[in-house]
Amino acid sequence: MSFPYQIKSFEEYLEQYKISIEQPEKFWGGVAENFTWKKKWDKVLEWNFKEPRVRWFEGAKLNITENCLDRHLADKADQPAIIWEPNDPSQKNRILSYRELYISVCRFVQVLKNNGVRKGDRVCIYMPMIPELAIAVLACARMGAIHSVVFGGFSAQSIADRIEDAKCNIVITADGGNRGPKDIRLKSVIDEALQKTSYIQKVIVCKHLGNEVSMISGRDVWWHDELAKITQDEMPAETMDAEDMLFILYTSGSTGKPKGVVHSCAGYMIYTTYSFVNVFQYKPGDIYFCTADVGWITGHSYTIYGPLCAGATTIMFEGIPSFPDAGRFWDIVDKYKVNIFYTAPTAIRSLMGFGTEPLKNKSLQSLRVLGTVGEPINEEAWHWYDENIGRHRCPIVDTWWQTETGGIMISNLAGISHGKPSYATLPLPGIIPLLVDEKGHPVPGSDAGKDGVFRRDAKGDTVSGNLCIRFPWPSIIRTTYGDHERCRLNYFATYPDLYFTGDGALRDAEGNYRITGRVDDVLNVSGHRIGTAEVENAINMYPDVVESAVVGFPHDIKGQGIYAFVTLNRQHHVSGDDKTGVSKMVNQVIGAIAKPDKIQFVSGLPKTRSGKIMRRILRKIAEGEMENLGDISTLVDPTVVEEIKAGRL
Ligand code: WTA
Repeated sequence: MSFPYQIKSFEEYLEQYKISIEQPEKFWGGVAENFTWKKKWDKVLEWNFKEPRVRWFEGAKLNITENCLDRHLADKADQPAIIWEPNDPSQKNRILSYRELYISVCRFVQVLKNNGVRKGDRVCIYMPMIPELAIAVLACARMGAIHSVVFGGFSAQSIADRIEDAKCNIVITADGGNRGPKDIRLKSVIDEALQKTSYIQKVIVCKHLGNEVSMISGRDVWWHDELAKITQDEMPAETMDAEDMLFILYTSGSTGKPKGVVHSCAGYMIYTTYSFVNVFQYKPGDIYFCTADVGWITGHSYTIYGPLCAGATTIMFEGIPSFPDAGRFWDIVDKYKVNIFYTAPTAIRSLMGFGTEPLKNKSLQSLRVLGTVGEPINEEAWHWYDENIGRHRCPIVDTWWQTETGGIMISNLAGISHGKPSYATLPLPGIIPLLVDEKGHPVPGSDAGKDGVFRRDAKGDTVSGNLCIRFPWPSIIRTTYGDHERCRLNYFATYPDLYFTGDGALRDAEGNYRITGRVDDVLNVSGHRIGTAEVENAINMYPDVVESAVVGFPHDIKGQGIYAFVTLNRQHHVSGDDKTGVSKMVNQVIGAIAKPDKIQFVSGLPKTRSGKIMRRILRKIAEGEMENLGDISTLVDPTVVEEIKAGRL
């Protein structure tokens, strides 16, 4: 398969970028010609950011799995589609060719249908990183069911909330999964979750660890038993409209509970494939390894859909970077001769801590391209990655994007445009970023828009502002499930006619963007998005908590750590048990990923006369900036600040 839309030089990039913003319909229509359609579109794009309403490839009919699977059968049937590497290196790996994956998906579609799933139904998937997870996802897509994958680290309560919000009636899970030395009892978590919601009629359980699990007759069925009933290896793909929902993925925002980000079939397919092929400069035959769990957007777009649509071999790794030792990623790279490696800065930073000893005797010669995603990469980590993993031979693509954007938005293209440590650099074709100030006024010189494309005259200074996008791209969020108004308010209402990312950014004189982090109350802990309001809500459920305020603080490995300030209604009898209790409560309500790193019990929180918590002050204290707290005279009780400073952890 060749990719006529693959950019081959920086000049071509500039040219393509220009076309993409001057004639977006022609540009994306041209890219879309390279995909398999059941029927082509009547109109490439219709949009307004007011409602918002964005429709790409209106009138087209397709099924994304015909692009991920069927069309590769002619020339790649025997090529590995998925290589699965187990958590424990002494266990056997599994390799599924495109033909095997195709058959597995077709068979599982029949299992879903036999268990009552119909087109348009929502299916909750709570599984470890095993091939059956990809099979379940693709089978949903093939029959037109909408998958809602929940990361294996979320708690029973979080799963129940997501099931209710999406009104799922079936769950696909496994008896368990491994992450390093830990066994995760996924089925037990599901059993607990299902005590909190009555939506679920069926649970399909994949046997992976061979654990004892309780099976409720009539509700729970084994994956392998159901598969044994299937006799056909083929199953035609359902005809989907371009704008039909493909999946829901929950993500944290600055307020309320996580929201279900909705992506639709055609645009998501086009954009994830286009960006995969261009950012990583994928070449047919490359072995590609993205370390992200499919529970997150990176796993959706760049472990499953993008690579498979491009006909790549994608590695799914069940384990963690440090088990059984800190050389695990590099052993996998050498074992499969990985060419493209994509991971998160937090993983790099945690491996840096082990020094270069685990790199001894690793070849790493197969590597050609390295990537990072999920959070800003600090210069030290960038250089370590470049020197020790890339050996100064491999471009590093720093890819900025979000669950809501579906695919990579700002990144250098490997070997085509230059990387710059800690800069995501330039927008992909079709993406028009704009920095605005607090009032929504464009920051002069920040526009990568129609005029000038990139200001490479270098006379401007570096400017900063809130990062917005001016024009729709094919995989832009369509709605938040069940609540379109929330989508509008969150992303399209802050600044009229702009998509607001929630991130702050700098733009240098050459047009490179550096993402500086969230400007809202969302934390980025080990590359995972966590809303402070969500954590506070969980903490407040602990008996005797009056209120709490959660802020981030710089953390060497996680990027950001979670710092919680908590008031109890019995300040003088705080014990160690309270700390454990608060932590347990967060674990129970959200999951281990949201447990605070620091919990400080205080007698009061700094508040203005109108009762607003001054987070700015707490943030500074958490960051250790005790001297320069700014004006605290508007506080009702400035003395609490002294107490909080004195008790800082
Ligand atoms: C942050 C992950 C700096 C950013 C794909 C964004 C980044 C949030 C980068 C989205 C990057 C992601 N440089 N920051 N290369 N990539 N972010 O939805 O704050 O889990 O808004 O999507 O992660 O996180 P999400």
